[in-house]
Amino acid sequence: MTDYPHHPEQAAVRGLLGAVGEALGGPVPREWREAITAVPRHRFLPERIWLDDGHGGYEPCDLPTDHDRWFDSAYADLPVVTQVNDGEEPPDPAGAWPSSSASAPSIVVRMLRDLDVRPGMRVLEIGTGTGWNAALLAHRLGPGHVASVEIDARVARQAQAALNAAGLTVDVVCGDGSLGWHRRLPYDRIISTCSVRRIPWAWIEQTRPGGIVLTPWDNPMLC
Ligand SMILES: C[S@@+](CC[C@H](N)C(=O)[O-])C[C@H]1O[C@@H](n2cnc3c(N)ncnc32)[C@H](O)[C@@H]1O
Repeated sequence: MTDYPHHPEQAAVRGLLGAVGEALGGPVPREWREAITAVPRHRFLPERIWLDDGHGGYEPCDLPTDHDRWFDSAYADLPVVTQVNDGEEPPDPAGAWPSSSASAPSIVVRMLRDLDVRPGMRVLEIGTGTGWNAALLAHRLGPGHVASVEIDARVARQAQAALNAAGLTVDVVCGDGSLGWHRRLPYDRIISTCSVRRIPWAWIEQTRPGGIVLTPWDNPMLC
């Protein structure tokens, strides 16, 4: 990913950490502050993202032609849609619906905080998306400790490429996350970034006794 000297990255990261701290009602925990500083969010976004069009829909925003808006979106405490219509972009943006996104940074940090990871733990993430959340975990836990399952092959490939480019080792697996992943068992933590209505039994089976399964509990199951 290209660097943009006219957008001081450090200032953007500082601004983001401030916004996340405000949303959380207190400073971002030191370990996650360090990870966010070391692993810039914009390096995990594709060149085309999709932004709110102000009318309840989405419009494309391309890095090469609209880099200020693109960069500002990368460092706002907001989710960023990174794929629409399962990768089959509609001819008319009015027909776009989000199929993959980078979660809002304050949600990411809140979940990482609640996940309560410590050095040496093995973590499985469900819903790799951009790979940024997996990258933060890998920065904290080191190589061989983080695996992530993504259902969309193209999204999984892009995340793996971004993680490799950042020098972070994560096993990105393309598959249905409701089945977990059968390698590197058992996990100390399973974190899902897509909502479920029922906890898949595989997640329980693959988590060691006393471990934690953390998931949004909301919409109809995306997993
Ligand atoms: C909110 S996004 C991921 C955010 C991501 N962790 C990040 O840091 O950018 C949720 C992701 O879950 C993926 N997904 C949906 N259903 C899934 C399933 N059954 N198994 C694995 N991934 C799934 C979607 O394709 C999407 O990329």
